[in-house]
Order: sequence, then C-alpha cells, then structure tokens
Amino acid sequence: MLTQSPINTRSPLNNNKLWFHDLHSTTSEFASDVLQGLDKRPASIPPKYFYDAKGSQLFDAITELPEYYQTRTEIAILQNNADEIAHHVGTDSLLIEPGGGSCAKVHILLEGLRPMAYVPMDISSQHLQLATEELATVFPWLEIHATCTDFTQSMALPPTALEKAEGTRVAFFPGSSIGNFDPRGAVEFLTSIAQLVKSEGYLLIGVDLKKDKSILRAAYNDALGITAQFNLNLLQRINYELDADFDLSGWQHKAIYNEQAGRIEMHLVSLREQQVSIGQSRFEFTKGETIHSENSYKYSTQEFIKLAQEAGFQSVALWVDADNLFSIHLFRVQTIILE
Ligand code: AVI
Repeated sequence: MLTQSPINTRSPLNNNKLWFHDLHSTTSEFASDVLQGLDKRPASIPPKYFYDAKGSQLFDAITELPEYYQTRTEIAILQNNADEIAHHVGTDSLLIEPGGGSCAKVHILLEGLRPMAYVPMDISSQHLQLATEELATVFPWLEIHATCTDFTQSMALPPTALEKAEGTRVAFFPGSSIGNFDPRGAVEFLTSIAQLVKSEGYLLIGVDLKKDKSILRAAYNDALGITAQFNLNLLQRINYELDADFDLSGWQHKAIYNEQAGRIEMHLVSLREQQVSIGQSRFEFTKGETIHSENSYKYSTQEFIKLAQEAGFQSVALWVDADNLFSIHLFRVQTIILE
C-alpha cells in the first residue's frame, strides 16, 4: 500500500535543488501480488516487480544489447528532433517522468525544454537516487523532485513539486513502457496521465512499433542471455524478499511473439515437476508449466493514436526512424478532464 504523505523527504544536495521523496512502502503488496499470481493458472506475476536494484541494473544492460534496438533508436529520434519537441512544448513546464529510473533519455531534452522543475517517479529507490544525483551534477540549474513510488498505483505529485504546479505540465513516458500494460490498462493509465497533466498538458511517449517477428524475437532472446537473467532475477528477488525457495536451475526463460495479440510474452518455464515454498505457502508446478512474467505490446502508429484518443489525447506530432522500428508521439489533452 502507498502512503499519501512522504515517508522520507530530503533536500540535501545541489543548493537545495534536489529533493528525494520516498512514497513507496512495504513488501506486503509484493507478497500479496506474488501469492495471488502464483495461485492462478496460468500463473503470472506483474512485470513491475522485475525492478529491484539488480533487475534495474540488468534492464540497463538490456538497453545496451545489439538485439534490443528500442533504446538506441528512441534516443536517436529524440536527439534528431529535440528542437522540434521543445518548439511544440515550450519552456518552463513541470516535466514529469513516470518510471524515469535511470533518467537517461531526459538528458537529451533538458537544455531545449528548460523546465521549471523535473519530477522523475520510479519504484526502485536506489536506482532513482543514483540517477538523480548524477543528473543534478550535469544540470546544476535543474530543480529535481525525485519520487520513489509505484506509478501504476499513484502518480500524485510530491508536495515540493505541487508548489510548481502552475506551469504547463508535460509527461514524458519513453521506452515503450506503455507496451507492458494490456490495451485496456494502457487506456486507463493514459487517462490518469491526462488527469495529471490536465487540460492543455502534453504527453511525449515512446512506443515500439509492430515489425518483422524475427527482429522482435531476437530483442527478447539475446545471445548473451541478459534478458534471461532479467526474467530469472524475479524468482531470485522472491527468494530474498519473501523467504521463498525457488531453485533457479529448475526454471528457464522463454520469450515468444504472439502475433494475434500483437505482443511479446515472457514466461518462466518449470523444467521439472517441483514444489516451491514462499513463507508459509506452497505451490506445485508441473514440468512445462509457466509463470507469465511480462507482456510487451507493439502498436502501429494509427493503433496507438486511437488508443490515446480514447484516453482524451489528440495527436500533435509523430516521429518515426527511417527503418520504422520505433515511434515517438506528442499528444495534448483535448477534453476538459474533471479534476
Ligand atoms: C520496460 N519495457 C518497456 C521493456 C520491454 O521491452 O517491454 C522490458 C523488457 N523486458 C525484456 N526486455 C526488456
């Protein structure tokens, strides 16, 4: 459960321009989601639990892999179009980045946007802290209100950022993380972003495109096996944090492209019949049974514009790389949202 007020708010660094708010609490939500998810058949665990400190590091390693075209392509699109983006959005905004754990891509935009303040939100406290401390040294003029929170549950702005709330609000959601929601959940999430940025607010969002299956399969089955480690680390995390006894040698990473649904699916496959204890609970898995750990939906540009319209956004601009691998959309809230 999330607390409404900061558990921990600090403003120690960089001439009081960097605040750190820890609004994310307990392991109890993790425990109940894992226990409920493993009770279902097929079993599943929400992908947000990949991102403990180790999982966040492994994800950063994935973004450097030759097969994982998404990150470098998105960065190139941002670099090539940063001026145009700034021209649309203007300066002095309140820039909010749900899931901005490594703060890597926002670097590209900051000089052009010169926001009044930047609010990165991330579930991984350590990761967020390191990234924002580095950001603060590169951009000493930038006011940063780092917020450790599960943004899928709450995108409430921290109190120090609320004071800056008069500027145009711009949400930045790169990395195609929207693909990790199912389409219904994506509309709900985009609706809450529309409510956060309010009328006239913007959303700049990176979305992975539908493409040749072989490119997609390779991106989630890399030759070095980093994605496999990332997937298996979920079981390791459950072992450490929830007193469980998954034997990692009994599980295997599997990633497939489900063409009908338009999504990559990641699973953990049980290699034998086995029993797993998590605290006082026990779970049986047959050989070949899977734990579904992630979906990553891919959208054509038109499919995604339609989805965003359902959430109250209108398309302002769209950028796609020359190989049609990745898209970045700029949307603006079109309807008056009840706040
Ligand atoms: C964070 N998210 C957009 C990544 C994706 O591609 O769906 C997570 C990931 N899973 C495996 N590789 C990367």
